[in-house]
Amino acid sequence: MKGIVLAGGLGTRLYPLTHVTNKHLLPVYNKPMIFYPIQTLVNAGVKHILVITSGPHVGDYLGVLKNGKELGVDHLEYAYQEKPDGGIADALSLAEDFADNDSMTVILGDNTTDADISEEISSFKEGAKIFLKKVNDPSRYGVPIFDSKDDKKIIGIEEKPNSPKSNFAVTGVYVYDHKVFSYIKNIKPSARGQLEITDVNNEYIKKGKLTWAELHGYWGDAGTFKSLFNANSFWANKDQQA
Ligand code: DAU
Repeated sequence: MKGIVLAGGLGTRLYPLTHVTNKHLLPVYNKPMIFYPIQTLVNAGVKHILVITSGPHVGDYLGVLKNGKELGVDHLEYAYQEKPDGGIADALSLAEDFADNDSMTVILGDNTTDADISEEISSFKEGAKIFLKKVNDPSRYGVPIFDSKDDKKIIGIEEKPNSPKSNFAVTGVYVYDHKVFSYIKNIKPSARGQLEITDVNNEYIKKGKLTWAELHGYWGDAGTFKSLFNANSFWANKDQQA
């Protein structure tokens, strides 16, 4: 199992902070944001990790992550997404050589969680597995549609729907087999000009190869001022209660 952290994009929703550095190097309480997804992978035993990044501040990563040893990473690689806002699936396409036919756990670089995903990763065999979390504001996220006859079965995922069909968010934690790269090659850019990870997940659903699990514990993204503040506040409280 390989690990991939997607840390490209321009972070425009966090201007002017992201004029200073890349979004994923901004602080979440006492650590740069990207330390959290890396730690989630390392805690789950995934220590062969690729960080995919882009934008004007890519050089800042090396001085912070170095070779990953201080975070428990055995092998750290970097890749550069030339079209910084090409989409999550565009960024993931750069991992094909790194994955080398293995399965991979992918985490979005602005997602932080204290969930332990090691069992879900070790039991993974093929297809795609996504992690869901109940939220109050599903229209900000990818939202699953469940089968009306089988409420455990996902029949589709909608990206940021105006009228969400469930109150679950598709979190930015995914496990894929190597077929993900052929699905990415088949999808077309969305209305916002991006290759969407939701379209890739829908390809797996069409093939009957998508499973899901609920993410237990805290989960949040940190791509807006409000969610960045909430993430800071969660991790500060957790640390102070420890
Ligand atoms: O946080 C979970 C949500 O993340 C999911 O529910 C959505 O289905 C998924 O599309 C995504 O939505 P966002 O609009 O929040 O994604 P955002 O554009 O903020 O990108 C999230 C991370 O993905 C970002 O921190 C870095 C990485 N990324 C994003 C883009 C657009 C890249 O590496 N390259 C990119 O081109």
